Amino acid sequence: MNNSRSLTRREVFRTGAGAAAMLALGSRAPAATSGEAVFQVIGDWGFGNENQAKVARAMAEVADANGCDFIISTGDNFYPRGVTSATDEKFRTHFEEPYSALSLRVPWYVALGNHDHNGDIRAQIDYGRLNTRWILPAPYYKRTVRLPGGSTADFFFLDTTPIRREFRSWVRFVYFPSRPQVAWLERELALSNAPWKIVVGHHPLFSGGSHGGTSALVELLQPMFDRYGVQAYLNGHNHNLEHVRMGDVQYLTIGGGSKPTRISAVDGQHFAASRLGFMQARLATEEMHIEFFDEDSRPLYRASIPVGA
Ligand SMILES: [Fe+2]
Ligand SMILES: [Zn+2]
Repeated sequence: MNNSRSLTRREVFRTGAGAAAMLALGSRAPAATSGEAVFQVIGDWGFGNENQAKVARAMAEVADANGCDFIISTGDNFYPRGVTSATDEKFRTHFEEPYSALSLRVPWYVALGNHDHNGDIRAQIDYGRLNTRWILPAPYYKRTVRLPGGSTADFFFLDTTPIRREFRSWVRFVYFPSRPQVAWLERELALSNAPWKIVVGHHPLFSGGSHGGTSALVELLQPMFDRYGVQAYLNGHNHNLEHVRMGDVQYLTIGGGSKPTRISAVDGQHFAASRLGFMQARLATEEMHIEFFDEDSRPLYRASIPVGA
């Protein structure tokens, strides 16, 4: 076997060469096994700059080695003012071209960021009808992923910009808030039978990044995450890679898609890097292995999140 390149996941399945694949992958995490879903997470990527292209190449390299079933965007898809129509050329220059590698041509589950709201968010929703790889049926939505082992994961994609904006104007005075999106999330979490519940939004709850955390989301969402057994919240907005644990919930900032900014220490922080990069997750019945990679596809940090507290 040729050890000079990494095996793709398909090749691992075909040859059953799991051990050989691990050797070929060297210091990287072991290749995915058949009981896992593998996905990548990227945020704050839409500058159309060389940094974005570098991270995109690293994503493709890791996806070639480990497989990638889908990709999650934590928002700020197009700087500085989103897009204006479903045929905006930024879809080509900032999305289709940088992420053209075959291994990244998988479904992208997209969340909206504040910069996307500076443009027409309807255009991003409409683009999903032209390109089936782009999944954003509504500003907030749910997707269920069936894991190869038979378990399920519910992913809840939020549009945190309006929640944050409206929080100070009236939600504080109408407790408990009846805002449709927040009420929708609570209803969906209560109804969910999936062992895995993962929430995705643009703004962080807890982060030492330059924008800090978001008090509105802490007040509105953290009690729900604790009550309904959410294992992880994935966000962007702060342009770095970070793992903060609060209670039994893991707060993961993945905003290293194109332009890193400084990061400071904060309570509960397990890892922080002011770096370009992205996250890979291997989701199995009992645990989720997460790994941050830099723009040269070097692993920066690894952690394992159990399904039950
Ligand atoms: Fe951003
Ligand atoms: Zn942002």
